Order: sequence, then C-alpha cells, then structure tokens
Amino acid sequence: MPNHKIRLAVFCSGTGSNFKYLHTAIAERPLDAKIVLCISNRSQCGAMEYARENGIAAVHISEKQFASYDEFVASMLDALHEHDIEAIMLAGYMRKVPDAVVAAYPDRMLNIHPALLPKFGGEGMYGIHVHTAVLAAGETESGATVHMVNEEYDKGRIVLQECVPVLSGDTPETLAERVLACEHRLYPAALEKLLDEMKTAEIR
Ligand code: GRF
Repeated sequence: MPNHKIRLAVFCSGTGSNFKYLHTAIAERPLDAKIVLCISNRSQCGAMEYARENGIAAVHISEKQFASYDEFVASMLDALHEHDIEAIMLAGYMRKVPDAVVAAYPDRMLNIHPALLPKFGGEGMYGIHVHTAVLAAGETESGATVHMVNEEYDKGRIVLQECVPVLSGDTPETLAERVLACEHRLYPAALEKLLDEMKTAEIR
C-alpha cells in the first residue's frame, strides 16, 4: 500500500519518556508510522498526559475496572481493533500483557528493557532493581535491549542492543540515567527495523 503509515499503539505506566522520543523520532526521521493510541493501566501519568496533549487517544485500561480477567482482555483487544492497531510498542508498561493480546500481534510487539538481555531480565527485574543487580554483579557494561514480546517475560527474539559502560562510582541512579539516554536512541532505531520487517513481509 503506497504511503501507508503503520498504526502503532504504545503501552505505558509512567513517565513515558521513551514514548515521547518515539513520537518525536517518527516525525523527525520521518518514519512510515503513526502513534494513534496510548494504553495505560494508570489514568494519570506522564505518558497519558503527553498523549492527550498531542491528540493521541489515551485509553485507561486496568484489570481493576473489570469483573473478570476475560473482560479486561476483551476490552484491550477491542481498543486495539477500534484503532486499527498494526503493531505495539511497550514503553515502561509495568503489567504483563495478556497472552491473547501477545498472540494477536506475533512479531508485531516490541519491548525495551534497561539491561543487556538475556542477563538481568525476567520477573522482578524492572526499574531501579535492574541497575542495582547489574552493579551488585560487578558488571563492567550494561545497556538496553529491544526485543519481541512473547508469552515469557523478556524472552522474545532480540531486535537491537546497545551497550553503555558501568563507571566506577556509579550508583543505580547514575547508571539508570545513562541507560535511559541509550534507550531513547535505541527504540526509534528498533522501530525503524520493525517497519522494514513489516514492509518486507507485505511484499512477500
Ligand atoms: C525504561 O527504563 C524501560 O526500559 C523500562 O521502563 C522504563 C520506562 O521509562 N521498561 P519511561 O516511562 O519511558 O521514561
């Protein structure tokens, strides 16, 4: 389809700095994609505010709003269908994406993780815990990983990685800052790669 912009959803729970960098990079490069939906388990957070300010549909979906897990999943799938979402970027989404949603987007859902997977991934490895573990292990480098999402935490195919040094005197906070800056470069590059893969799949 000529000039077809791939319709993206971002899933966020917090500040949403990766979301902002993605949104800006799409306009600046420019990329054949458009973020049209932000789904969050929190009604008020930096990411949702940014979406609202930028004319992106901001949809609050939390398991707590529903009588059953199935209804929660159905509502997430409905929102994705309603907005014709073709690919999903997880950007600081602090919940496990339901298996049915993962299954609906095979090779079409990316996550960014603040370490060099397969090390320092899995359940409980999020936020500052990751950087604390990296320092405790005496690593000399850390970094960021973008990977496809499958049913297992942080186990999908690795799409891109970038390293940053661990410096003497680093605290979890200073390391987190260096890794986050790396994430902001890496996620747009990974999106570009995904879009290329999607285009190639379309041609075949
Ligand atoms: C990032 O470190 C990302 O790797 C992790 O959560 C953090 C989100 O930060 N999954 P932000 O909300 O994009 O600023």
